Amino acid sequence: MAETELKIPKHVAIIMDGNGRWAKKRLLPRTAGHIQGSKVAEQICEDAYNLGIEYLTIYAFSTENWARPQKEVDTLMDLLRKYMKDSIERSTKNNMVVKVLGDKSRLAPDLIESIDKLEKITENNTGLKFNVAINYGGRDEIVRAVKKLYGDIENGTYCIEDVNEEIFESYLDTGNVPAVDLMIRTSGELRTSNFLPWQLTYAELYFTDVLWPDFNKKELQKAIEYYNKRDRRFGGVK
Ligand code: FPP
Repeated sequence: MAETELKIPKHVAIIMDGNGRWAKKRLLPRTAGHIQGSKVAEQICEDAYNLGIEYLTIYAFSTENWARPQKEVDTLMDLLRKYMKDSIERSTKNNMVVKVLGDKSRLAPDLIESIDKLEKITENNTGLKFNVAINYGGRDEIVRAVKKLYGDIENGTYCIEDVNEEIFESYLDTGNVPAVDLMIRTSGELRTSNFLPWQLTYAELYFTDVLWPDFNKKELQKAIEYYNKRDRRFGGVK
């Protein structure tokens, strides 16, 4: 299908899986896969925007990833640190709005500082809305949302009877970001792994055997072509 004929999903979410296997195939340490994977993530942001995608959300580090070997955790944190610092410099040029999803409280203070700075200086940009999930778990996000909402019920902002899906959703890390239209997972695993359970409810799910460090614009287009073949009924009939 020609690029111009494609219906472009507004919000795409990606589980960037397969970095370790990509490195192993090349007899490299797992960390080499993450380094390559972070370069691909940066390129895909540009490609997504050029294709007309408005929101891109990536799963960079889950609440479960702390259980990995310390060296690997350190590499991932260093990559994220570098990404935030470089993005502060690039932010005027790339015009992206960057937002971090997840519980920041367990992150290193300097990383939190860079995230806060980047979120602040990009908030009024008008390009791609790029969400990076770090120390993110979907169940954890829901529990944190319940606690915040409970506080606002106690202080009288809301009556329990008034709480509906829209109000609850505004307490999630994604706030009022629209629901995900297309979720991509690389490397052949057929799971959603605690990624955006609320936001993925009606998303089309696309699984590919391609390992994340090999993912590129052509693969993204294939996912969009798959999305175009789906008949989205949102529980209704057509
Ligand atoms: C899964 O591959 C990937 C991760 C747990 C981390 C993803 C992080 C990045 C691509 C880098 C950070 C991103 C930015 C924007 C700086 P895996 O290690 O589970 O692979 P495997 O299943 O083959 O072992």
